[in-house]
Amino acid sequence: AFEVELRRTGGTVAVAADETVLAAVRKKLPDVAYSCEQGFCGTCQLRVVAGEVDHRDELLTDEERRDSMLVCVSRARGAKLVLDL
Ligand code: FES
Repeated sequence: AFEVELRRTGGTVAVAADETVLAAVRKKLPDVAYSCEQGFCGTCQLRVVAGEVDHRDELLTDEERRDSMLVCVSRARGAKLVLDL
């Protein structure tokens, strides 16, 4: 499990081992955009302000991975991610 801080909204959500970042974020922000939930459409791409991402999609380029992630499949490497959300 790890934490995701929502920089603009304020507050932090916990992401359990068996749930996605998207699912955890939606508890606080039900309107966050998503579609495929499988890491291929790009709809759920969010900017990462801080923290190391464990990228699990097949879509983003290395350059995009430097400061963003697909929250339906990718996770944190460490204890915390900070999203620009
Ligand atoms: Fe399609 Fe995340 S919802 S890539």
